[in-house]
Amino acid sequence: GRAADLAGRRVLVSAGGTREPLDPVRYLGNRSSGKQGVALAAAAADRGAEVTLVAASTDVPAPVGVEVVRVETALELQAEMTARAPQADVVVMAAAVADFRPAEYADAKIKKTHDPADPDAAPTIRLVRNPDILAGLVAGRGAATAPLIVGFAAETGDASGSVLEHGRAKLERKGCDLLVVNEVGVGKTFGQDTNMVHVLSRDGAAPVPAGPASKREIADTIWDVVGPRLVSA
Ligand code: C5P
Repeated sequence: GRAADLAGRRVLVSAGGTREPLDPVRYLGNRSSGKQGVALAAAAADRGAEVTLVAASTDVPAPVGVEVVRVETALELQAEMTARAPQADVVVMAAAVADFRPAEYADAKIKKTHDPADPDAAPTIRLVRNPDILAGLVAGRGAATAPLIVGFAAETGDASGSVLEHGRAKLERKGCDLLVVNEVGVGKTFGQDTNMVHVLSRDGAAPVPAGPASKREIADTIWDVVGPRLVSA
């Protein structure tokens, strides 16, 4: 059974939403609750793995029995994941990483101006791209056989393709081994306690559907797919 099928495995999971500061009191954030990533960390620990959770902002506490590393920004998350990935058997990027960050950080709070000639004056925030951490982890692995690298994708179906078609294209683009695709939209996934996903694999296996089910049950299905793909110890 599942009981201790990850015993001795080193698992690295990122979770939550990054926050990109504008000034000491403000940031750009996102609606990720971190629940799915935290459920993955908890399930792996229960299955015997040695788990490190790199946690950006989450709505839920970290599970017991898991090493927790707190981060705020995408760049901090990248530094922690890049340093720890070579020691892991499997890396799961469940974090919602901000694609952009403010180009400048103001050391003091950005103030309203009080110019009677321009009472509606407001600053313009310029953004710059954040690195794609997942793609960087794939590139950093090079020709090595480990770690197995798992990405997440929040997709909506649209005129240019279904959720699964978008997921397949993203799997190819990012170069990770597995991609967990979930359908998002109003009331779906973000902050919810249940989820519905498809686990896509680059090895040609058919997509594995999971849910609708609790994020913990989804996590166990993801580990069921990951387990047999880990390089034998
Ligand atoms: O491109 P998209 O954001 O849809 O890809 C989602 C996947 O890529 C997730 O696994 C997420 O953690 C990861 N990601 C990343 N760095 C970014 C953006 C997303 O690692 N800058």
